[in-house]
Amino acid sequence: MTTYSPAPDLLKNRVILVTGAGGGIGRAAALAFARHGATVILLGRKVAKLEKVYDEIVQTGGAQPAIFPVDLSAATDADFEAIAEAIGYQLGRLDGILHCATEFENLAPLDQECLADWVHMFKVNAAAPAAINRSCAAMLAAAEASVILIGETHGHAPTAYWGGFAVSKAALEAYFKVQADEWSEAPMRINLFTPGPVHSPQRMKTHPGEEKTHLPTCEDMALRLLYLIGPDSREVRGQFVSP
Ligand SMILES: NC(=O)c1ccc[n+]([C@@H]2O[C@H](COP(=O)([O-])OP(=O)(O)OC[C@H]3O[C@@H](n4cnc5c(N)ncnc54)[C@H](OP(=O)(O)O)[C@@H]3O)[C@@H](O)[C@H]2O)c1
Repeated sequence: MTTYSPAPDLLKNRVILVTGAGGGIGRAAALAFARHGATVILLGRKVAKLEKVYDEIVQTGGAQPAIFPVDLSAATDADFEAIAEAIGYQLGRLDGILHCATEFENLAPLDQECLADWVHMFKVNAAAPAAINRSCAAMLAAAEASVILIGETHGHAPTAYWGGFAVSKAALEAYFKVQADEWSEAPMRINLFTPGPVHSPQRMKTHPGEEKTHLPTCEDMALRLLYLIGPDSREVRGQFVSP
C-alpha cells in the first residue's frame, strides 16, 4: 500500500463523510479526498476549524464541501437521523464514511478516572460511529460504500494508564467485528484501520515529550485512507488494516 498511486479522479462524483475533519488525520484525509474529486462532508465539534478546512478545499479547486458542526458526545439518535436526512436531501448519496473523531482525556491510573469521562469517551469513540453508520445504512448500501473505523493499539492491547480510552477503543473493535459480520453479504463494507504512531494533535497529548520528526505524518495516513475509501480496495472488507 505504501506505493499506492491513486488516480487523480479516484473519488469523482463521490460523497464522503469525514468525522473529526477539523484536525489531525481527519483533516488530512478530507483534503486528500477532495483533491481526488470527492465532495466531502466535514463533521466536527469546532466550526472555526471546519471552516478552515472548507476554505482550503475551495481554494485548491475542490468541490464545495458541506459542514456539519456536531458534538458527538451530546448527539442523540434523532440528531444522527437528521444528519442522514440532510445528507440525502442536500447531496443525494453517500459513498463512504471515515470515522476519525476521537476523544482522549489524559493518561492516568484508573483510580483517578471518573464515570463521566468514561461515558464521554465511550460515546465519541465507540457509540457515535455505530449510530452514524446505522442512520446512514440505506444510503451506504445504495452506493456500495466503504466505511472506515480508526482503531488504536491500546484498544487491541490495553496497558496501564490508558484507562477509559483503551476500553472505548476496545469497544470500537468489538463493534467493528459485529458490524463486519452483519455486513458480510451487504453491498457496503467496513474495515478497521489502526495507524500506529502518527504526528498529530492527539499524539501531542499522549506523548508530549517525544521527538516526533521521525513519525509518519497525517498526510502519510491520508494516502492509505484514500486506498481504503475508494474503489481500488473494493475487495477489502471486514479487515484489520495497518499501514
Ligand atoms: N495520532 C496517533 O498517533 C494515533 C495513533 C493510533 C490511532 N489514532 C487514531 O486516529 C484517529 C484520529 O486521531 P488524530 O490523531 O487525528 O486525533 P486528533 O488530532 O486529536 O483529532 C481528533 C478529532 O476529533 C474531533 N473530536 C473530538 N471530540 C469530538 C466530539 N465530541 N465531537 C466531534 N468531534 C470531536 C476533534 O475535533 P475538535 O478539534 O473540533 O474538537 C478532532 O478534529 C483517532 O481515532 C485516534 O485514536 C491516532
